[in-house]
Amino acid sequence: MKNFYLFLLKCAAILLVIGLVSCEGDIGQTGPAGPAGPTGAQGPQGVAGADGQNGATTCSDCHGSNQLITAKSFQWENSIHYLGGHFERNQARCAGCHTSQGFLDRIASGEMAASQDIEDPLPQNCYTCHQIHQTYTEADWALTAQDPVTLWVGGETVDVGRGNLCLNCHQPRVPSPALPTPGVDEMLEITSTRYGPHHGAQGALFAGEGAYEVGTGYENSAHTTAVAHACVTCHMAATIDGRDAGGHTFRVETEGGEINPNGCVVCHPTGVQELVETTQAGVEALLDSLSVKLQAIGIMTDAGRSVPGTYTSTQVGALYNYKYVEEDQSRGVHNAKYARTLLSNSITALDE
Ligand code: HEC
Ligand code: HEC
Ligand code: HEC
Ligand code: HEC
Ligand code: HEC
Ligand code: HEC
Repeated sequence: MKNFYLFLLKCAAILLVIGLVSCEGDIGQTGPAGPAGPTGAQGPQGVAGADGQNGATTCSDCHGSNQLITAKSFQWENSIHYLGGHFERNQARCAGCHTSQGFLDRIASGEMAASQDIEDPLPQNCYTCHQIHQTYTEADWALTAQDPVTLWVGGETVDVGRGNLCLNCHQPRVPSPALPTPGVDEMLEITSTRYGPHHGAQGALFAGEGAYEVGTGYENSAHTTAVAHACVTCHMAATIDGRDAGGHTFRVETEGGEINPNGCVVCHPTGVQELVETTQAGVEALLDSLSVKLQAIGIMTDAGRSVPGTYTSTQVGALYNYKYVEEDQSRGVHNAKYARTLLSNSITALDE
């Protein structure tokens, strides 16, 4: 090795000598730059980058060319959630059901009311029901409220799967005076013309809970136990006629009065329209008979308003039951057996 370095040193000395010896005249001017050489071969692939957070891939799971959001929005724009207009009920005690922000606030706190009045109120929208933009992945389609619901009136806990989401809002508010207990007779004073279960009694009737259960013979229809996910199964079944009913219209009936059979066919292969009409006619007849009696007592007007005054607990309970079935709006379909018993027992109780 030593010899090799010695050899290199000698060569360098020789070259230096040649350089000095060959030195003749001045160096000429620098010539023009030569043409660019050909493109070199492609280099090897670089290492993969770290997984992006909130990156383009997960955004496009939802915001991609699949038009998922657009399709659901298109249906939702034909829903009463979007069209109903009552989202301006933005005071804290109303906003928990009537505004998107108030609902998320109350679900987080577990209280019955939102923590404050809601500025810039929004109706029920994608963010109300889905965990949009929490993780920025498809997992955000998860529902915002999935736990079983303890009803405000009656205190029963009900578990109807994905329908629990709906039940949080589609249940009666606590009335004042409180719902009386059958068998406990007292005089009660009604002060509001709106006395009754506040408008969305559907969840309570579906479960057969939170009414004035006077008399005996109460039984739920098969829907209560057999229809998994309750509301979602019937109201969010595959759409019919484009977006007349079903899916994110949340409608089970078209504006023209046609029942969307897609959520019913597994159990009612045919004839569901007639079945609904028969059940509704029967329940309407009972509602009419009870209405006549309540008006005769003077506790309700022919327009269905409560009349402030002092009444027996049976009369107040019967008024509550009337509004419970009336405001449910399915005219019995949600839980026909329970609705019929409730109405006929109320009629009998007023006669006693
Ligand atoms: C789980 C599905 C989902 C994912 C994943 C998702 N988004 Fe969204 N995004 C939505 C929905 C639903 C809306 C509301 C659409 C509407 O109201 O019309 C929305 C709305 C938006 C809006 C409109 C403004 C707003 O906030 O309402 C923007 C901007 C947006 N997303 C950007 C993104 C970006 C950027 C990502 C990825 C980092 C992303 N989104 C990931 C579902 C998703
Ligand atoms: C945040 C509370 C809330 C949730 C959650 C909710 N709703 Fe509603 N829903 C309302 C309110 C309030 C209205 C009345 C809207 C209006 O008139 O502005 C309504 C209206 C409706 C209507 C139309 C009623 C009519 O008079 O025609 C249907 C049907 C309905 N909801 C079904 C559902 C179903 C099914 C679910 C569950 C998938 C659900 N809702 C979840 C609050 C809610
Ligand atoms: C437990 C949830 C809940 C709360 C709290 C609530 N609402 Fe509602 N409200 C509903 C639902 C659900 C509907 C729609 C019922 C339907 O159409 O079947 C509704 C409907 C209404 C309607 C329309 C009634 C009609 O006949 O068309 C008015 C007005 C209204 N609410 C006012 C209020 C006011 C005012 C408050 C506060 C004092 C309030 N709501 C609190 C759930 C609620
Ligand atoms: C009132 C509550 C409610 C609102 C408002 C709502 N959704 Fe939904 N959404 C649901 C429920 C409940 C389901 C589950 C339906 C089922 O199980 O059949 C669902 C399912 C979906 C799915 C299918 C998710 C999956 O896991 O495959 C998409 C996509 C979706 N919704 C998008 C939207 C968009 C976009 C909006 C706003 C325009 C919206 N939703 C508004 C309640 C709602
Ligand atoms: C077995 C199927 C079925 C189930 C389960 C069901 N519904 Fe209904 N619902 C109906 C039918 C049918 C009507 C009556 C439609 C008509 O004649 O207008 C109705 C009526 C309604 C209405 C009145 C407005 C309308 O669309 O006519 C509301 C609001 C409603 N249901 C909400 C709910 C909620 C909330 C749940 C869950 C607690 C629920 N429904 C469960 C079938 C169902
Ligand atoms: C999981 C099965 C199931 C589904 C889904 C279902 N039903 Fe039913 N339904 C039944 C059964 C079982 C009965 C008869 C026994 C009972 O009512 O207890 C019934 C009875 C009825 C009745 C007669 C109630 C009476 O006693 O007067 C009507 C009306 C009705 N269903 C409508 C509907 C409509 C409308 C849908 C779809 C939107 C639907 N059902 C979805 C199982 C189902």
